[in-house]
Formats: sequence, C-alpha cells, structure tokens
Amino acid sequence: MADIIDGNAVSDRIKDELSENVDALADEDVTPGLATVLMSDDGASETYVSMKQRACENIGINSVHVEIDPEAPEQELLDKVDELNEDPEVHGILVQMPVPDHVDERKVLQRIDPMKDVDGFHPENVGRLVAGDARFKPCTPHGVQILLGAADVDTTGKDVTIVGRSNIVGKPLANLLVQSGENANATVTVCHSKTQNLEEKTKAADIVVAAVGVPELIDGSMLSEGTTVIDVGVNRVDADTEKGYELVGDVEFESAKEKADAITPVPGGVGPMTIAMLLYNTVKAAGLQHG
Ligand code: GUN
Repeated sequence: MADIIDGNAVSDRIKDELSENVDALADEDVTPGLATVLMSDDGASETYVSMKQRACENIGINSVHVEIDPEAPEQELLDKVDELNEDPEVHGILVQMPVPDHVDERKVLQRIDPMKDVDGFHPENVGRLVAGDARFKPCTPHGVQILLGAADVDTTGKDVTIVGRSNIVGKPLANLLVQSGENANATVTVCHSKTQNLEEKTKAADIVVAAVGVPELIDGSMLSEGTTVIDVGVNRVDADTEKGYELVGDVEFESAKEKADAITPVPGGVGPMTIAMLLYNTVKAAGLQHG
C-alpha cells in the first residue's frame, strides 16, 4: 500500500519560507504584487484564480484582480496586459488559461513582460527553461519537481513516464526532469493521445506523472509494483454531492495505491504545490525588479 504524498504539508512549508522572504522585502519597502487576469466564466478557472489571490494575501503579497468579459475583443485583454506591464506595483502577471477561442493565446503570452511572466509561458522564458537557464519555472512542473524531492523520491537515473504533452505541464516537466541538477537527471518518456501501447510505457516507469485531463485514465493494472505516481489531473465529474460534482485525478486512486510505493491524492497533492510555486515566482519577480 502506497505512502500518500501530502502536497498541502509541503506547500505550507514553502509558504512559511516565502513569508519570511516577503518580510525581508518589506524592510526594503517592497511589497510583491501579483495581478491575476480572468477572461472566462468557467467555474473551475474562477475557483483557481480566487485560490491564487487568497494564497497571495495570506503571505503578504499584494493581489490585484482583473476580470474581462469573455465576449470582449482580444484587444481589451492586450491593453490590460500593457497597463499591468507598466505598473511598478505589479511584479507578476498571470492570465488564467484557457482564454476564449477568439483570443490568440500566443499573442497574449508574448505580450506579458518576460520579467513579470510568473507562469513562465513567454517564449523567452520557455527558451531559457529548455536551455537549462530558467528564470521562472512553470508553476505546476516546478511543484511536481519539488514534491518529488520532498517525498525523498530520487529522480537521478530513473525512468519517468509523463502522460500528457501540454505546454503548461507535460513539455516543461519533461525539460526540467531531463536536465542535470537537483530533482532531475531522469530519463523521460512523454506520452500523448497518439502514443501506442501506453500501458507498456507506464509499466516500464519508476515514476509516472499523469497530466492529460482524462478522469482516471491510469489505473493500477497499468503500473508496476513500487512505482511513484504523481497525479496532476483535476477533473470535475458529475456526482451526487452538494455541488453536483466531485474532483478526480487522471489516476484511478484506489487501484493505483495498491501498486504504487507513493502516490499524490486529488485534491491535496499537486494542486497546492502549483499555488506555492506561483507565490515563489512572484517573490522572485519582485526581487529581480528591485534588485
Ligand atoms: N490554467 C491551468 N493551469 C494554469 C496555470 O498554471 N497558469 C495559468 N495562467 N493558467 C492555467
């Protein structure tokens, strides 16, 4: 039976450390500021953004929130990004993805000042990450990396199978784990919807990271004994609960935990780490802009 990797505990520790960094910046009259921009009426996106704002406020980061009508023209979002780029009290800018179909996501990401790009999605920051010289590591992959370290999972020389090739998680995580350095040096396989024999790849892995957004795609029968399982998925599925849904991961937890050595739960695994690493990047951005 697997150990449960407690993302809440690890993220709380990181937030405590960051809180000290925020106090040190206050001595220099700097209050880190994060602007969140939401152009969506999707309930999950609204929830994520409000969790990010709350987490900021809890450790003394100034939080500014901007909502843009999902029907508004793309230019309105670009103009808002321009304004936030110029605002000296805003050190980090996060435009919650996905944006509506009529908005060109790439154009938006390229508009954010790379020094304020706390998501690490601007092409300049993506390039730096791939070259092994990251300025801002994307929050979820960085959170996974830190969580593995905190759970004493040695990645050096290990076979990691990542299921999912998104720009937000799969691709940057593969880049981070394959590099030299702490919590890295892994041999990485990235799987996706066109992968043949997925089960062969997950069974061959020492560490499986599921980040596809398909509820409970990976179950215990697809894992070898002793695997570490990191579940990035957060899927709302219909259920007879007060809210009418429940959250499940990309991994079928009950069967996977019988096979795995260690596993992250959903919720309470990777999710809190994403938020902690966003705060980390925001504090770093404030330091860089005032250094
Ligand atoms: N949508 C899902 N994950 C993320 C994230 O890490 N950052 C942003 N901006 N949008 C997201």
